[in-house]
Amino acid sequence: MDTLIKNGKIVSVEAIYKADILIRDEVVCAIGKDLEHTFLLDDKKMNIIDATGKYVLPGGVDVHTHMDLQAGACRAVDDFYDGTVAAACGGTTSIVDHMAFGPVGCPLHHQLNEYHRLADGKAVIDYGFHGTAQHPMTAENIEELESMIKDGVPSVKVYMTYDLKLDDDEILNVLKRMKELHGVTAFHCENHQIVEKNRKIFPAQGKTSPYYHAKSRPNLAEAEAVRRVLYLAKLAGDAPVYIVHLSCKESLQAVKEARILGQKNIFVETCTQYLTLTEEEYKREDGLKYVMSPPLRTQDDIDYLWKGIEDGEIQVVATDHCPFFFNKEKQLGKDDFTKCPNGAPGVEERMILLYSEGVEKKKISLNKLVEIACTNPAKIYGLYPKKGVLQPGSDGDLIILDPQKEHVLTHDDMHSAVDYTAYEGFSVKGYIELVMQRGRVVAKDNEFTGERGAGQFIFRKAME
Ligand code: URP
Ligand code: ZN
Ligand code: ZN
Repeated sequence: MDTLIKNGKIVSVEAIYKADILIRDEVVCAIGKDLEHTFLLDDKKMNIIDATGKYVLPGGVDVHTHMDLQAGACRAVDDFYDGTVAAACGGTTSIVDHMAFGPVGCPLHHQLNEYHRLADGKAVIDYGFHGTAQHPMTAENIEELESMIKDGVPSVKVYMTYDLKLDDDEILNVLKRMKELHGVTAFHCENHQIVEKNRKIFPAQGKTSPYYHAKSRPNLAEAEAVRRVLYLAKLAGDAPVYIVHLSCKESLQAVKEARILGQKNIFVETCTQYLTLTEEEYKREDGLKYVMSPPLRTQDDIDYLWKGIEDGEIQVVATDHCPFFFNKEKQLGKDDFTKCPNGAPGVEERMILLYSEGVEKKKISLNKLVEIACTNPAKIYGLYPKKGVLQPGSDGDLIILDPQKEHVLTHDDMHSAVDYTAYEGFSVKGYIELVMQRGRVVAKDNEFTGERGAGQFIFRKAME
């Protein structure tokens, strides 16, 4: 059945304009005025949605999630069903999930097969995967990057910390090959030696509280790794490099300097939590909820990142959604922060927080929100123009947002399987009233209305 969304204010990167949207056969068929007459539409045979006074945005694209992630002995508590229900209810209609490390020495396809098993038939919104490069990155693994791209995975993530991190020579090999293949290499940037040393010294000194999680991973440990990876990418001939979850001022300064010196193909992502929460959270009784890497920083960093978004230095805001139960897995860290699994939920809160904390508080424009949360991530990672934009031919993925309605974020209203939201009590201006994927309403008034397994694998393409 056709869907006609009438009288909304459509938001793109360039403009906000009043028009109607006709969705037919899952895609945007037309945008304009008076579509009923132009297309000789029959009222009774279509779904008409009145969006008077509301904004109509492309569905959110979150390119950094970890559904069903096995992290050491713990498993992230949202599988591809619960996690994508949460995403849908929060206005995100596509995710690109970072796959976990596989068994040591496994081919890249081991994890791709495993993730298809985890997500296919379960996800309720469309989804893709990033490859994961792990040590040892053998010649066979490098060779396999090409067939991963042929299988719809034109991006790979490299960790500069954690046990299966790559060494610099391995990083260079990945960057060079991914450049030849027109793929994107994403980096978790933290200096492993600095972090590991602190994780030994602090507990030995009795510094075991969650606050020392933040202190063990200082800004400069992140910025050093950012600078190193930028040099390696330059050595690889300006190979495309995407910094995931950049969290602090010094890291963004490194990126700016590289750009000033002429380096190309640098993409930067930050996440909602690094724009809204500070390291003060670690001093709370429930500070373990915020143990994630990189850690939360200071208000000074937050201000610098918002400015970086407005100036176009940061291209993407994602979530790094990776939830563990506060009352279970997170308690492993109650006597020692190093035992606490890293990660926090956020896939459901991103879009409305960007609106309320960003647009309403005049840190960014609504066009910029669409750019960083929908269009840019889709472009960088090969989902565009199917995703990330509302134009004829793109998928009928959209959000209707009421800018007037106010509410307070609370875990009771959330859909993730986890037992908390990191944003409990946040007063929010703006409300995501309806979410549509390929012309089907998947969430309305905070109720999930979609279907288990209706999400499709997004076969992404490498850059032109
Ligand atoms: O603490 C985090 N971010 N956990 C998820 C894995 C990662 O490093 O992205
Ligand atoms: Zn990471
Ligand atoms: Zn992550």
